Amino acid sequence: MTRPVTGSAPIIAVDGPAAAGKGTLSKRLAEALELPHLDTGLLYRAVGRLMINAGLDPASTSGESIARSLSLADLQRTDLRTPDVDAAASLVARDNAVRQALVDMQRLFARENGAVLDGRDIGTVIFPDADVKLFITASPYARAVRRYIQNGGSDDAPDRDQLVRTVEVALIARDHADSTRASAPLRMADDAVKIETDTLTADEVLAHSLRIVRDALKAKNVNLPSASVQDLCS
Ligand code: DC
Repeated sequence: MTRPVTGSAPIIAVDGPAAAGKGTLSKRLAEALELPHLDTGLLYRAVGRLMINAGLDPASTSGESIARSLSLADLQRTDLRTPDVDAAASLVARDNAVRQALVDMQRLFARENGAVLDGRDIGTVIFPDADVKLFITASPYARAVRRYIQNGGSDDAPDRDQLVRTVEVALIARDHADSTRASAPLRMADDAVKIETDTLTADEVLAHSLRIVRDALKAKNVNLPSASVQDLCS
């Protein structure tokens, strides 16, 4: 028996720590599988941005009402990846009222056509019954090098090691904050497949993930809207 696409289309959860490569992977997975993609970090970033612009301090004020009126259009803003928003989003993400306010939006996003969603709590809280759960991770050092290069750093810079170390320290602090917060901490779901990406290229991570998705969906008789995931893996 195969499930109809509408109403029970595939949900693919991609969780993991910052800079592990889950954003790139999720985007490419969604393209390959012809599923909508939601980067759920943008929800927390948008609430943080709107709070900053309204003169509200996320350290002392709840962003719940802003979260309740958030729309997908807010996620298209081009000012969601600035350092002040990084810090605000991290505070916003600790607020349980905000997290609750964003649950329905994430579930509704995937209801019609399924989706690939990436974040920290997709497989544990938002979609505990997701059809496939991937947990993408890498050592703090590997993630720091990637983030350093993404931010325009050069491997030839004389102070490269020191700069990478600074990024690594910040990532370790963020991992700690994400994993120890009371509300929906970053944790690998018991039934997730862990992919360590230290020594893998983005193409290898995608190919490996597609194989996992194909096998999991086949075992569950879940249909994909795309032509054939089998072809994508061959
Ligand atoms: O992945 P990111 O850096 O864009 O996430 C921004 C912040 O939101 C970060 O502090 C982690 C948090 N977050 C979360 O708590 N739950 C999610 N599902 C996604 C992100």
